[in-house]
Amino acid sequence: MEQYVMRGGNPLVGEVTISGAKNAALGLLAAAIMADSAVHIDNLPDVSDIRNLLSAIEGIGGTVTKADPHTVTVDGTTIRSLIVDNSYVRKMRASYYLLGALLGRFRHAEVALPGGCNIGARPIDQHIKGFRALGAQVDIEGGMVICRAKKLTGAHIYLDMVSVGATINIMMAASMAEGRTILENVAKEPHVVDVANLLNRMGADIRGAGTDVIRIRGVQKLHGCEYSVIPDQIEAGTFMFGAAITRGDIIVRNVIPRHLESITSKLREMGCEVTEFDDQVRVVGKPYLEHTDVKTLPYPGFPTDMQPQITATLSIARGTSVIRESIFENRFKYVDELARMGAQIKVESGSVAVVRGVEKLTGASVKAPDLRAGAALVLAGLAAEGTTTVEEIHYIDRGYEIFVEKLAGLGADIKRVSTDREAAKFNLRVVS
Ligand code: EPZ
Repeated sequence: MEQYVMRGGNPLVGEVTISGAKNAALGLLAAAIMADSAVHIDNLPDVSDIRNLLSAIEGIGGTVTKADPHTVTVDGTTIRSLIVDNSYVRKMRASYYLLGALLGRFRHAEVALPGGCNIGARPIDQHIKGFRALGAQVDIEGGMVICRAKKLTGAHIYLDMVSVGATINIMMAASMAEGRTILENVAKEPHVVDVANLLNRMGADIRGAGTDVIRIRGVQKLHGCEYSVIPDQIEAGTFMFGAAITRGDIIVRNVIPRHLESITSKLREMGCEVTEFDDQVRVVGKPYLEHTDVKTLPYPGFPTDMQPQITATLSIARGTSVIRESIFENRFKYVDELARMGAQIKVESGSVAVVRGVEKLTGASVKAPDLRAGAALVLAGLAAEGTTTVEEIHYIDRGYEIFVEKLAGLGADIKRVSTDREAAKFNLRVVS
């Protein structure tokens, strides 16, 4: 069984280059199939979620040509099936983006209903509400979401909650509807803006992405183009907290500092030094971190996808911190694993964690319950005294490209191993 094994204590020092944003790339690849010619996308992260979405696109007949692991050409003109079955959706929830893309382009899409997931119930009622408002008939039969429309007509749609997925999905469908759509109370995440930018480059007419209201004038056709994925805000944030928790000093390259503002603010409140440059940030950790309170919020608030990483870091800060998770109902599952490393965290009512800072963490054997929690456990292991093993690392592979290599490049003593024997060998190694 593959796992990470690490010996904590080395400060992360040096430079790390951030990959393209996974959650942007998932939307971009789905949008690409709407064009009537090939779309060329580069700066893709080479992570399993992206590979799975590309397989799903090939599964319905789309042509995917990889120039290298980060550069792909997607040609949706060869699509011959509008049915995305459960085998893809099980592997990767974001294949629901194919609903909006196929519905917009072909007026018909059938995609398996994404199930619950490790971070709580994740309904798609807002996506469905949007498709229906555009004139689609949406039924759920045999575990499939079936969307059909004779024609799609622009509409005025108000989302009951700020949802990244619903905003992107409805925006894609509406970009090929007849007439004007006004989409209110939308998500403002950088990846929403990135997908809107690609669609506009493909010939769509979308305004306001990045604000609360998106206005779309539908077009009949979208065409191919070239596009580059934005840098990954969450991967960057994870390394920034890596510098804080290990008291290191790192330069995080290929980032958009504006996308990192909530993360930067929290690090500064905790006493770290953060310097912003054009496309990089430097984070210098301090011997003692200060406590702070955090509430996860839609962008530009503090991202839920950084909640486990800041909680792990605060577990060794001075004083007591309160973390409020306002996006997902069950995103503190990893706290039990952190407790095995000596963290003192009490989860109250499922959405609030009270973190009493301890002097140090100690190495333990832990399991990643999901992607970001897995990354947080690795950060904790890098700061802990002794050896930590992190299992279930397939979650981490979904969203972090060559995570171990990047960390090792910063001086971390970490290895990916495939057997317990290899892990034991790492443990027995004499460290000079
Ligand atoms: C996206 O998920 C991300 N995934 C998530 O990243 C991220 O945690 C989340 O946005 C919040 O930022 C991708 O971009 C592929 P939402 P998404 O719709 O779109 C509720 C990671 O680790 N809701 O913004 O599925 C929902 O239950 C992943 O990279 C409804 O009730 O999230 C949640 O409470 C994990 N009905 C809230 O809204 C709906 O129809 C926000 O969810 C839609 C959402």
